[in-house]
Amino acid sequence: MSIKIIHHPLIDHKMSLLRRNDTATYQFRSLVKEISIFLTYEALRSLKTREYQVETWQGKSTGKKISGKKLSVVPILRAGFGMLNGVLEVIPSARVGIVGVYRDKKTLKPIKYYKKFNDDISSRSVLIVDPMLATGNSMKAVIEMVKRENCKDIKAICLVAAPEGVKNITNDHDDVQIFTAALDDHLDENGYIIPGLGDAGDKIFGTK
Ligand code: URA
Repeated sequence: MSIKIIHHPLIDHKMSLLRRNDTATYQFRSLVKEISIFLTYEALRSLKTREYQVETWQGKSTGKKISGKKLSVVPILRAGFGMLNGVLEVIPSARVGIVGVYRDKKTLKPIKYYKKFNDDISSRSVLIVDPMLATGNSMKAVIEMVKRENCKDIKAICLVAAPEGVKNITNDHDDVQIFTAALDDHLDENGYIIPGLGDAGDKIFGTK
């Protein structure tokens, strides 16, 4: 199973605040950042470390550092940007590759309009960031974009996932692990997650 729901009292508490109608834009933004920190922490649990010698106040000791190249974080414009500051709080030296994908309102199919990856992204682990895994079409399009670059170790974090989106990703990309703060009930006829959050991008950026 490639979906992991992160159960934690702090996450549940913050997710409920996020769902409330009376949560102001600045609070919404701040909660998204805080939950993204927890999700990143959990998604990166399997990072490999290597030992090295450090000088401490007690003399030489064995420390650990994360091995391999710096991770590449790939937020999906626009809403994924709202999670990026939380992710970078945990891994400040990560590289950032940006993709722009929006979904056609009628067909719900993903339309790609921007891509800027590190030249050497193929040798990096990738963390895709998007708050709402609804139909899964945008996430799938981005997974395919990074796989085309030859990336092998791919993970994704989202705030809310719908079973339809999870199935869509799992069918074709079972190797990609998805970490979510909540798995909601279903999608409505417009592809919105129910109960979900409404339009996450609008809420993060205060555009509506
Ligand atoms: N995008 C959103 O912002 N919300 C949804 O419920 C689905 C897609």
